[in-house]
Amino acid sequence: MGKILHLLFCILISNIIISSAQDCRSYTFTNNAIYATCVSLPVQNSHLHWNYHSTNGTVDLAYRHTGVSTSNWVAWALNVNGNGMVGAQALVALVHSNGSVQPYTSAVSGYGTALQPSSLSFDVPVIRAEIVNGDVVIYATLVLPSGGTSFNQVWQMGPVSNGAPGAHPLGSENRNSVGTVDFVSGQTGAGGGVGGSLLHRRNTHGVLNAVSWGILMPMGAMVARYLRVFKVAHPAWFYIHVAIQATAYGVGVAGWGTGLKLGSDSEGIKYTTHRNIGITLFAFGTLQVFALLLRPKPDNKYRIYWNIYHASIGYATISLGITNVFKGLDILDPEKKWKHAYIGVLISLAAIAALLEAFTWFIVLKRKKEEKQQEPNGAYGSNGYGNGHSQAA
Ligand code: HEM
Ligand SMILES: *[C@@H]1O[C@H](CO)[C@@H](O)[C@H](O)[C@H]1NC(C)=O
Ligand SMILES: *[C@@H]1O[C@H](CO)[C@@H](O)[C@H](O)[C@H]1NC(C)=O
Repeated sequence: MGKILHLLFCILISNIIISSAQDCRSYTFTNNAIYATCVSLPVQNSHLHWNYHSTNGTVDLAYRHTGVSTSNWVAWALNVNGNGMVGAQALVALVHSNGSVQPYTSAVSGYGTALQPSSLSFDVPVIRAEIVNGDVVIYATLVLPSGGTSFNQVWQMGPVSNGAPGAHPLGSENRNSVGTVDFVSGQTGAGGGVGGSLLHRRNTHGVLNAVSWGILMPMGAMVARYLRVFKVAHPAWFYIHVAIQATAYGVGVAGWGTGLKLGSDSEGIKYTTHRNIGITLFAFGTLQVFALLLRPKPDNKYRIYWNIYHASIGYATISLGITNVFKGLDILDPEKKWKHAYIGVLISLAAIAALLEAFTWFIVLKRKKEEKQQEPNGAYGSNGYGNGHSQAA
């Protein structure tokens, strides 16, 4: 039984491999050109067909991007000296709204590129492009640079508006259209991405900030709001609150630093809202820490204003923090599960807060009643800004 299943599985797999290869090989070009090698690229429904001439180190290729409608551009590029998009030596085809296709070359110098025509770091004696039933094909001859045969490659599709190419989307298909190509062996591979290190730094930035501004800060605020109602939690709630917020602030500053570094390393990319909220958060967080040192004594008559101020900035920081975690998740565009996980954490925190809120009111009202019956000057107030609720603070 196991053997038969194994056999069926092998047949199935080899069928899949053969049929995808056939999809690549069986394509008939309008000029009936025959290419000895063809690979289907892993994302964005694209194929690369080529003939390599070892005598003069040139390659004739056809890059085919399927499912393209008018008012879009497609591009395929070698990145000779670097990784990912920056440094890409691109063959571009603009498909105008009237259906005409304009081929040209463009050396991409940064993420802010407008994809202007320019010459590449190697010779491209021939470039031409067409669109046939939604397949955009760029035909070109490349004189491979410095006699090399194996390179990093990237490919992409984006919109054309008013005749000019616009920024492509940044979904996972658009970020993962990187790899390597060996024109001699016909091997293509993964790699050639924007260094695992950049992605790694983005993820570090995301985790640090989500944990600090997005989870620890709200927890610290909940401690301050709900724990102080319990007589046994005096003065512990205050120290727990300070400990959590100080940790959150420390982690948050580290996260903020990684954000600044990411921003300065990627000239030309601007996530203005995310950045401005980040700066505001840092300011608010710092303000809260200093405010703690400057707070009036509990019995000072100005203390109530300080309390109001401290709580308002605190709540503002938390809402901005949560907003910015979502903005960051949209930019990073990780697997959906991370967003779901964060939403799950928020829902749990909110559920706990709702329970404690109800419980707090219950306790406070009960105490008010008892106070009325026994002694008029009760020691423990509510979590409002009344008197006496924060001896420790
Ligand atoms: C209209 C011109 C273009 C603009 C404005 C643009 C903008 C961007 C931006 C902002 C990013 C993300 C950076 C980040 O995540 O921090 C990016 C990534 C990427 N772009 Fe472009 N791009 C353009 C053209 C191209 C072209 C022509 C190609 C390929 C031939 C390409 C391939 C890629 C790839 C593979 C990535 C992900 C890997 C990486 O970050 O290098 N882009 N692009
Ligand atoms: C390179 O060599 C091939 C065949 O050997 C030839 O067809 C092609 O025209 C040559 N290309 C250049 C640019 O010399
Ligand atoms: C189509 O539009 C482009 C850009 O607007 C223009 O350069 C080109 O001449 C037009 N082609 C035709 C066939 O109308």
